[in-house]
Amino acid sequence: MSSGSDLKTLFERKKELIDEYLRETLCKKKIPDILAQSIAYSLLDGGKRVRPGLCAITAESLGIKPSRVLPLAAAIEMVHTASLIHDDLPCMDNDDYRRGKLTNHKVYGEAMAVLAGDSLLAFAFEISLNELPKQGFSQSHILRALSILSNAIGPSGICGGQALDITQEYGEDNEEFLWKMSELKTATLLRASLTAPAALVGVDEQTMSCLHNYGTHMGISFQIVDDILDVTGTISELGKTPGKDEASGKVTFVSFYGLQKAKELALNETKKAVEAITPLGEKFKVFVEIVEHFTRRSR
Ligand code: IPE
Ligand code: IPE
Ligand code: MG
Ligand code: MG
Ligand code: MG
Repeated sequence: MSSGSDLKTLFERKKELIDEYLRETLCKKKIPDILAQSIAYSLLDGGKRVRPGLCAITAESLGIKPSRVLPLAAAIEMVHTASLIHDDLPCMDNDDYRRGKLTNHKVYGEAMAVLAGDSLLAFAFEISLNELPKQGFSQSHILRALSILSNAIGPSGICGGQALDITQEYGEDNEEFLWKMSELKTATLLRASLTAPAALVGVDEQTMSCLHNYGTHMGISFQIVDDILDVTGTISELGKTPGKDEASGKVTFVSFYGLQKAKELALNETKKAVEAITPLGEKFKVFVEIVEHFTRRSR
C-alpha cells in the first residue's frame, strides 16, 4: 500500500462487496413490507462502511478471503446502523438528517424506527449463526466472535456509552467520564470490527491483544474526529446536521478541551494505535495508513 488513493480503492472494493451482500441478504428475508422499507432505508445506502471494511481487511491480513467473513461484516454494519437509527431518535440526539437524508423516524415514525433498529440487532446474530458455519469456521471460533460482537452492543459497549452520553447532558462533565463514554459508545464496535474476525480465524492471544489495543485507540480517535467535524464540517460533507453537539449542550472532546487540543488528542490516539499494531509486522502495515486516513477524514 503506497498512497491514500490505493487505500481508498481498497475500501471502495470492500464497500462494493458489502453493499451487494447486504442488499441480497435483506432481499432474501421475508419481512412485513413497511418494516422492510424502514430497514432498507437506513441500511442500504449512505454510510462509509468503515466497520465492515475493517472486518474484511483484517481477514485479508490474516490470510482469509474477505468473502468468507462477509456475514460477520454485514452483521457489524447492521449493529452500527441500528445504533445510528436509535441515536437519532427524539429521546436521544433528536436528529433530522443522517447519511445525507432524513433520519429513519422522520420518514417512518418513532415506533417503526425503534423496530427497525431492534430488527437489525437481532438480524445481525441470525445471519452470523446461519451463514458463518457454512464458511468453514469452527463453532468455538464463531462463538468467540459473536461474544465480542454482543459485548460491543450491550452495557459495556454502545448501550453503556450511550447511557453515559445522555447523562452528560445533565452536567456530568469530568474528563474520565468523557474518555470512558467514547470508548464504550464508539471504540467497542470499531475494535470489534478487528477482534471479531480475528477470533473467527482463531488468532493467538498476542495478535488479539495488539488488535484490541489498536482498535481502542483508533476508535477513540474516530470519536474525537467525529466531535471535531460536528464543529468544522458542513451538512453536505457530513450528511448530518453539524453544530448539534454544542446546541444540545453535549460534553464532547471539543467542548471539553477546545478545538486545537482535540486535534492534538486525535493525533496522539492515532500514534498510540500505530504503536499497538506495529508488532504485527508487514501484513498489518495497511492499518497504519487506515488510522491516519480516518484522522484526516472530512466526513
Ligand atoms: C458515526 O459513524 C457515528 C460514530 C460512531 C462516530 P460513521 O462516521 O462511521 O457513520 P457512517 O456509517 O459513515 O454513516
Ligand atoms: C456516536 O455518537 C455514537 C453512536 C451512534 C453509538 P454521536 O451521537 O456523536 O454520533 P453522530 O454524530 O450522531 O453520528
Ligand atoms: Mg449520540
Ligand atoms: Mg448523534
Ligand atoms: Mg457526533
